Amino acid sequence: ASYNLFLLPGDGIGPEVMKEVEAIIAWFNAEGIARFEVDRGLVGGSAYDAHGQAISEADMAKAMASDAVLFGAVGGPKWDKVPYDVRPEAGLLRLRKDLGLFANLRPAICYPALADASSLKREVVEGLDILIVRELTGGVYFGEPKTITDLGNGQKRGIDTQVYETYEIERIARVAFDLAKTRRNKVSSAEKRNVMKTGVLWNEIVTRIHAAEYPGVQLEHVLADNCAMQLVRWPKQYDVIVTDNLFGDVLSDVAAMLTGSLGMLPSASLGAPDAKTGRRKSLYEPVHGSAPDIAGTGAANPIAMIASFGMALRYSLGLGDWADKLDQAIAAVLAQGIRTKDIAGSQPANATTTQMGAAILGELKKL
Ligand code: NAI
Ligand code: MG
Repeated sequence: ASYNLFLLPGDGIGPEVMKEVEAIIAWFNAEGIARFEVDRGLVGGSAYDAHGQAISEADMAKAMASDAVLFGAVGGPKWDKVPYDVRPEAGLLRLRKDLGLFANLRPAICYPALADASSLKREVVEGLDILIVRELTGGVYFGEPKTITDLGNGQKRGIDTQVYETYEIERIARVAFDLAKTRRNKVSSAEKRNVMKTGVLWNEIVTRIHAAEYPGVQLEHVLADNCAMQLVRWPKQYDVIVTDNLFGDVLSDVAAMLTGSLGMLPSASLGAPDAKTGRRKSLYEPVHGSAPDIAGTGAANPIAMIASFGMALRYSLGLGDWADKLDQAIAAVLAQGIRTKDIAGSQPANATTTQMGAAILGELKKL
């Protein structure tokens, strides 16, 4: 099958790490493993410089028509003072909104070669492979009313509103159960039903979807605060964790730090399946930002971006076996002691962005 990939490298180290993914894509095409049609666009500060918007309508249309968007990173001091609605992040927010990306997938994988870099003990993190599924378009970040009111007596009142509707919980639950079936078949649903009505509803709907559609998957309910504790105590008890926007934001950052550097962490965001083709709109991006402090120095670790492409292979491009191989190639390179600065610990770095990318592609070619 042929797939359209739309690349939005963005700003700072975004284009530097994207270049390493482009080399891998070119190899897939050259070997005839896949037929990827690649197009490129501008997002963030680079788009603002070119046409005064964080993403152009033409590039939005290409993103909408693609099978997967690969996104680098946006932002940097150069654009700190641009008008709010065309600031670099507005490009990413527009993409998330228009593509309807309601499911954010954040894996936390601990490569054995980096287990000692974790702030936790080796036995707690070695072999860790969990996936946090965060609801991304609802909840307290978007619910109305959302206001600060002046009460007139020197006091103000801030209000955020947590809102979830049945369909929003149903669809994120289905994503989590479907993913669990391809993994270790377990879903842990995190909410706070003890103090929140949305938690009661979340629990009720996840339970119903499970009983009706996924009785073969193991389901447990966990209070979100306890989940945070358990992630630090014994994270390997989890397989897939499904949770709302706010808890997911926090829990995924906790899980991320179990495994080491920001330069290692990929993510995927998925929309609803297309009625005709069944393909989901999707965007793949590293968790890190544009890292202006190291941009242009060759110090950026491309693994987060490469692993994000690996998630695209798995979830959008029908090449799950190649996603596994890409993970193996990354593990092999790390086992050989090849390190960019962010994962070198007390040792000096022995690889630039390009050298790390080339080493991973070199290992992939052997598999
Ligand atoms: P950041 O993630 O860009 O950098 C944080 C620290 O981690 C820096 O010291 C950086 O050098 C390091 N780092 C990040 N990625 C790395 C990699 N691949 N390899 C090696 N080291 C890496 O976050 P920061 O500094 O808070 O923000 C910088 C800019 O990026 C800001 O303009 C911010 O708004 C933007 N940003 C964009 C995001 C996105 O595009 N999704 C996400 C987060 C921040
Ligand atoms: Mg966060």
